[in-house]
Amino acid sequence: MARPGEPQFARNAGRRNERQNCEIENMTTTPPLTAPIVGFVGSSRRKGDTAALAHAVFAHLDHAALIDVSALNIGPYDYGHAHRDDDFASLAEAMAAARVIVFASPVYWYSMTAQMKAVFDRLCDMTEIYKPLGKALAGKSIFAIATGSAPEAPASFTQPFADTAGYFDMSWGGVLYVRGREIDTPAAQNAARLFAGEIARHAGGRIAAPA
Ligand SMILES: Cc1cc2nc3c(=O)[nH]c(=O)nc-3n(C[C@H](O)[C@H](O)[C@H](O)COP(=O)(O)O)c2cc1C
Repeated sequence: MARPGEPQFARNAGRRNERQNCEIENMTTTPPLTAPIVGFVGSSRRKGDTAALAHAVFAHLDHAALIDVSALNIGPYDYGHAHRDDDFASLAEAMAAARVIVFASPVYWYSMTAQMKAVFDRLCDMTEIYKPLGKALAGKSIFAIATGSAPEAPASFTQPFADTAGYFDMSWGGVLYVRGREIDTPAAQNAARLFAGEIARHAGGRIAAPA
């Protein structure tokens, strides 16, 4: 039960089933290794709010790949690198080949999802067994896409993305946050288009002019 003033997020999250208008089937699980813009979606709903918002942004971007992290096998970080044969290595290669990396996660308990956190924990591999890939991140940009039921994304959600960018000498491009129930509004769709423009600018390109 939420305390006064706190979002009743669990109840809101169950309010709706998977979205029908989300072209999630375009989301690849085999990361192309050379896309200049690579996005990772880590949600517990494959056709949920976060996937819909990520697609609203990526619809404006050329040469961009969106990868469903939940469909991959990403084990937790292990000090002995016990999961080195899972799918993380291909994600690391995709990140190292990109100019801009976009992480999309709903806010779950004021934080990124467990699926996304597994990816973040495994970034340690890029400072250990895949050191050249980790060093290749310097100078690239990180953006975040987020949905939640609260009016704003909490700092506890945003800070790890910004701090991780700093750790790897990357630029922090900022977060696009939209409440789940507002994703289909013209304001949110316009914000997605503007955000795509910012991502494209960091990748050295620009989005197509609106029709
Ligand atoms: C386990 C869980 C925890 C959540 N925690 C929060 C939260 O801390 N803050 C918030 O604003 N919304 C929270 N929500 C609501 C979701 O972030 C929101 O419904 C979001 O749009 C769902 O996106 P999805 O369809 O990609 O999962 C939570 C939902 C779930 C299922």
